[in-house]
Amino acid sequence: MGKVVIMDHPLLQHKIGIIRRKETTTKDFRELVNEVAMLIYYEASRDLPLADREIETPICKATVKEIAGKKLCIVPILRAGIGLCDGILRMTPNAKIGHVGLYRDEETLEPHEYFCKMPPDAKERDIFVVDPMLATGGSAIAAIDMLKKRDIKRIRFLCLIAAPEGLEALQKAHPDVDIYVGALDERLNERGYIVPGLGDAGDRIFGTK
Ligand code: PRP
Ligand code: URA
Repeated sequence: MGKVVIMDHPLLQHKIGIIRRKETTTKDFRELVNEVAMLIYYEASRDLPLADREIETPICKATVKEIAGKKLCIVPILRAGIGLCDGILRMTPNAKIGHVGLYRDEETLEPHEYFCKMPPDAKERDIFVVDPMLATGGSAIAAIDMLKKRDIKRIRFLCLIAAPEGLEALQKAHPDVDIYVGALDERLNERGYIVPGLGDAGDRIFGTK
Protein backbone atom coordinates (compact mmCIF):
# COMPACT_ATOMS: atom_id res chain seq x y z
CA MET A 1 0.00 0.00 0.00
CA GLY A 2 1.30 3.48 -0.85
CA LYS A 3 1.74 5.89 1.99
CA VAL A 4 -0.68 8.65 2.96
CA VAL A 5 0.89 11.77 4.44
CA ILE A 6 -1.44 14.30 6.05
CA MET A 7 0.59 17.46 6.52
CA ASP A 8 0.64 18.84 10.05
CA HIS A 9 3.11 21.71 9.76
CA PRO A 10 1.79 24.86 11.52
CA LEU A 11 2.73 27.21 8.65
CA LEU A 12 0.80 25.10 6.22
CA GLN A 13 -2.24 24.79 8.48
CA HIS A 14 -2.22 28.56 8.99
CA LYS A 15 -2.16 29.24 5.26
CA ILE A 16 -4.89 26.68 4.51
CA GLY A 17 -7.01 28.43 7.17
CA ILE A 18 -6.76 31.68 5.18
CA ILE A 19 -7.47 29.94 1.87
CA ARG A 20 -10.71 28.52 3.28
CA ARG A 21 -12.18 31.93 4.20
CA LYS A 22 -14.89 33.06 1.81
CA GLU A 23 -13.64 36.67 1.87
CA THR A 24 -10.12 35.75 0.65
CA THR A 25 -9.58 37.55 -2.66
CA THR A 26 -8.69 35.80 -5.92
CA LYS A 27 -5.19 37.30 -5.79
CA ASP A 28 -4.53 36.10 -2.22
CA PHE A 29 -6.17 32.75 -2.91
CA ARG A 30 -3.87 32.12 -5.89
CA GLU A 31 -0.75 33.16 -4.02
CA LEU A 32 -1.57 31.03 -0.98
CA VAL A 33 -2.48 27.99 -3.07
CA ASN A 34 0.96 28.20 -4.68
CA GLU A 35 2.69 28.59 -1.31
CA VAL A 36 0.83 25.63 0.18
CA ALA A 37 1.55 23.55 -2.93
CA MET A 38 5.25 24.32 -2.53
CA LEU A 39 5.21 23.21 1.12
CA ILE A 40 3.39 19.94 0.36
CA TYR A 41 5.70 19.27 -2.59
CA TYR A 42 8.70 19.73 -0.30
CA GLU A 43 7.44 16.74 1.69
CA ALA A 44 6.29 14.77 -1.37
CA SER A 45 9.77 15.01 -2.92
CA ARG A 46 11.56 13.84 0.25
CA ASP A 47 12.37 10.37 -1.05
CA LEU A 48 13.52 11.27 -4.57
CA PRO A 49 16.67 9.31 -5.42
CA LEU A 50 19.99 11.20 -5.29
CA ALA A 51 23.24 10.60 -7.17
CA ASP A 52 26.79 11.77 -6.44
CA ARG A 53 28.38 14.38 -8.68
CA GLU A 54 32.00 15.55 -8.68
CA ILE A 55 32.35 19.34 -8.74
CA GLU A 56 34.88 21.99 -7.74
CA THR A 57 34.07 24.62 -5.17
CA PRO A 58 36.31 27.74 -5.08
CA ILE A 59 38.22 25.84 -2.36
CA CYS A 60 38.61 22.24 -3.56
CA LYS A 61 37.08 19.29 -5.38
CA ALA A 62 33.98 17.92 -3.71
CA THR A 63 31.29 15.29 -4.15
CA VAL A 64 27.82 16.78 -4.00
CA LYS A 65 24.32 15.33 -4.37
CA GLU A 66 21.90 15.88 -7.22
CA ILE A 67 18.51 14.42 -8.06
CA ALA A 68 19.17 11.25 -10.03
CA GLY A 69 17.86 10.05 -13.38
CA LYS A 70 15.46 11.60 -15.85
CA LYS A 71 13.91 13.63 -13.08
CA LEU A 72 10.49 15.06 -12.65
CA CYS A 73 7.15 15.68 -14.31
CA ILE A 74 4.32 17.66 -12.74
CA VAL A 75 0.82 16.78 -13.97
CA PRO A 76 -1.91 19.26 -13.03
CA ILE A 77 -5.48 18.00 -13.41
CA LEU A 78 -7.11 20.76 -15.47
CA ARG A 79 -8.18 23.17 -14.69
CA ALA A 80 -7.71 23.83 -10.96
CA GLY A 81 -4.46 21.83 -10.76
CA ILE A 82 -2.76 24.60 -12.75
CA GLY A 83 -3.10 26.76 -9.65
CA LEU A 84 -0.46 24.64 -7.87
CA CYS A 85 2.16 24.61 -10.62
CA ASP A 86 3.99 27.91 -10.11
CA GLY A 87 4.70 27.10 -6.45
CA ILE A 88 6.00 23.66 -7.31
CA LEU A 89 8.12 24.96 -10.18
CA ARG A 90 9.78 27.41 -7.79
CA MET A 91 11.29 24.34 -6.09
CA THR A 92 12.13 22.36 -9.25
CA PRO A 93 12.15 24.77 -12.20
CA ASN A 94 13.42 22.14 -14.67
CA ALA A 95 10.50 19.77 -14.15
CA LYS A 96 8.50 18.96 -17.29
CA ILE A 97 4.73 19.46 -17.24
CA GLY A 98 2.07 17.08 -18.49
CA HIS A 99 -1.62 17.97 -18.58
CA VAL A 100 -4.66 15.86 -17.90
CA GLY A 101 -8.04 17.46 -18.64
CA LEU A 102 -11.03 16.27 -16.60
CA TYR A 103 -14.19 17.91 -15.42
CA ARG A 104 -16.69 16.59 -12.92
CA ASP A 105 -20.31 16.41 -14.06
CA GLU A 106 -22.21 18.47 -11.49
CA GLU A 107 -25.17 16.07 -11.45
CA THR A 108 -23.58 12.62 -11.53
CA LEU A 109 -20.19 13.71 -10.05
CA GLU A 110 -18.57 11.43 -12.66
CA PRO A 111 -15.28 12.66 -14.18
CA HIS A 112 -15.16 13.34 -17.94
CA GLU A 113 -11.89 13.21 -19.81
CA TYR A 114 -11.12 15.90 -22.38
CA PHE A 115 -7.34 16.20 -22.74
CA CYS A 116 -4.06 14.42 -22.11
CA LYS A 117 -0.63 15.59 -23.23
CA MET A 118 2.47 14.18 -21.59
CA PRO A 119 6.19 14.68 -22.27
CA PRO A 120 7.50 11.89 -24.55
CA ASP A 121 9.86 10.55 -21.86
CA ALA A 122 7.23 10.64 -19.06
CA LYS A 123 7.65 6.90 -18.42
CA GLU A 124 11.18 7.55 -17.19
CA ARG A 125 10.21 10.35 -14.81
CA ASP A 126 8.87 10.66 -11.29
CA ILE A 127 5.32 11.93 -11.74
CA PHE A 128 3.48 14.29 -9.36
CA VAL A 129 -0.25 14.50 -10.18
CA VAL A 130 -1.60 17.67 -8.55
CA ASP A 131 -5.11 18.97 -7.85
CA PRO A 132 -6.31 21.22 -5.02
CA MET A 133 -9.30 18.99 -4.17
CA LEU A 134 -9.80 15.25 -3.64
CA ALA A 135 -13.57 15.02 -3.15
CA THR A 136 -15.18 11.75 -4.35
CA GLY A 137 -11.77 10.80 -5.76
CA GLY A 138 -13.25 10.23 -9.24
CA SER A 139 -11.05 12.82 -10.99
CA ALA A 140 -7.79 11.72 -9.36
CA ILE A 141 -8.54 8.05 -10.03
CA ALA A 142 -9.38 8.76 -13.69
CA ALA A 143 -6.28 10.96 -14.14
CA ILE A 144 -4.00 8.24 -12.79
CA ASP A 145 -5.82 5.62 -14.93
CA MET A 146 -5.06 7.77 -17.99
CA LEU A 147 -1.35 7.86 -17.09
CA LYS A 148 -1.12 4.15 -16.32
CA LYS A 149 -2.75 3.38 -19.70
CA ARG A 150 0.26 5.17 -21.19
CA ASP A 151 2.55 2.86 -19.22
CA ILE A 152 3.51 5.64 -16.80
CA LYS A 153 4.44 4.48 -13.29
CA ARG A 154 6.17 6.04 -10.25
CA ILE A 155 3.20 8.31 -9.57
CA ARG A 156 2.57 10.43 -6.48
CA PHE A 157 -0.63 12.43 -5.87
CA LEU A 158 -0.69 15.76 -4.10
CA CYS A 159 -3.73 17.80 -3.01
CA LEU A 160 -4.53 20.67 -0.66
CA ILE A 161 -7.75 19.31 0.82
CA ALA A 162 -9.17 15.78 0.84
CA ALA A 163 -12.45 14.24 1.96
CA PRO A 164 -12.18 10.87 3.73
CA GLU A 165 -14.38 9.33 1.00
CA GLY A 166 -12.01 10.43 -1.79
CA LEU A 167 -8.88 9.41 0.06
CA GLU A 168 -10.24 5.92 0.66
CA ALA A 169 -11.39 5.55 -2.97
CA LEU A 170 -8.04 6.69 -4.36
CA GLN A 171 -6.08 4.35 -2.08
CA LYS A 172 -8.30 1.45 -3.11
CA ALA A 173 -8.07 2.19 -6.85
CA HIS A 174 -4.32 2.94 -6.88
CA PRO A 175 -2.67 1.30 -3.86
CA ASP A 176 0.79 1.86 -5.37
CA VAL A 177 0.44 5.69 -5.34
CA ASP A 178 1.75 7.76 -2.42
CA ILE A 179 -0.73 10.49 -1.44
CA TYR A 180 0.15 13.85 0.16
CA VAL A 181 -2.69 15.89 1.65
CA GLY A 182 -2.59 19.42 3.09
CA ALA A 183 -5.68 18.88 5.27
CA LEU A 184 -8.11 16.01 5.70
CA ASP A 185 -11.65 17.38 6.11
CA GLU A 186 -14.83 15.96 7.64
CA ARG A 187 -16.96 14.73 4.75
CA LEU A 188 -18.68 15.43 1.44
CA ASN A 189 -22.02 17.21 1.31
CA GLU A 190 -24.98 16.10 -0.81
CA ARG A 191 -23.59 18.02 -3.83
CA GLY A 192 -20.17 16.35 -3.59
CA TYR A 193 -18.43 19.38 -2.08
CA ILE A 194 -15.89 18.97 0.69
CA VAL A 195 -17.05 20.15 4.15
CA PRO A 196 -15.78 22.54 5.44
CA GLY A 197 -13.55 22.73 2.31
CA LEU A 198 -13.00 25.98 0.43
CA GLY A 199 -15.77 25.92 -2.18
CA ASP A 200 -15.03 25.45 -5.87
CA ALA A 201 -11.25 25.59 -6.19
CA GLY A 202 -11.20 26.25 -9.96
CA ASP A 203 -13.66 29.13 -9.67
CA ARG A 204 -11.71 30.66 -6.79
CA ILE A 205 -8.33 30.36 -8.57
CA PHE A 206 -9.55 31.73 -11.88
CA GLY A 207 -12.23 34.12 -10.61
CA THR A 208 -14.97 32.48 -12.68
CA LYS A 209 -17.80 32.81 -10.20
C1 PRP B 1 -12.62 19.89 -9.16
C2 PRP B 1 -11.26 19.66 -8.53
C3 PRP B 1 -10.99 18.22 -8.85
C4 PRP B 1 -12.37 17.61 -8.77
C5 PRP B 1 -12.50 16.90 -7.45
O1 PRP B 1 -12.51 20.08 -10.51
O2 PRP B 1 -10.28 20.54 -9.00
O3 PRP B 1 -10.42 18.00 -10.13
O4 PRP B 1 -13.31 18.68 -8.84
O5 PRP B 1 -13.71 16.21 -7.36
P1 PRP B 1 -13.79 14.62 -7.37
O6 PRP B 1 -12.72 14.13 -6.41
O7 PRP B 1 -15.17 14.38 -6.86
O8 PRP B 1 -13.58 14.13 -8.76
P2 PRP B 1 -13.75 20.44 -11.48
O9 PRP B 1 -14.31 19.16 -12.05
O10 PRP B 1 -14.71 21.31 -10.74
O11 PRP B 1 -13.10 21.16 -12.69
P3 PRP B 1 -12.23 22.52 -12.79
O12 PRP B 1 -10.85 22.18 -12.26
O13 PRP B 1 -12.22 22.78 -14.25
O14 PRP B 1 -12.90 23.59 -11.98
N1 URA C 1 -14.28 20.34 -6.34
C1 URA C 1 -14.03 21.53 -5.71
O1 URA C 1 -13.48 22.45 -6.34
N2 URA C 1 -14.41 21.67 -4.44
C2 URA C 1 -14.99 20.67 -3.74
O2 URA C 1 -15.28 20.85 -2.55
C3 URA C 1 -15.22 19.45 -4.39
C4 URA C 1 -14.85 19.31 -5.69
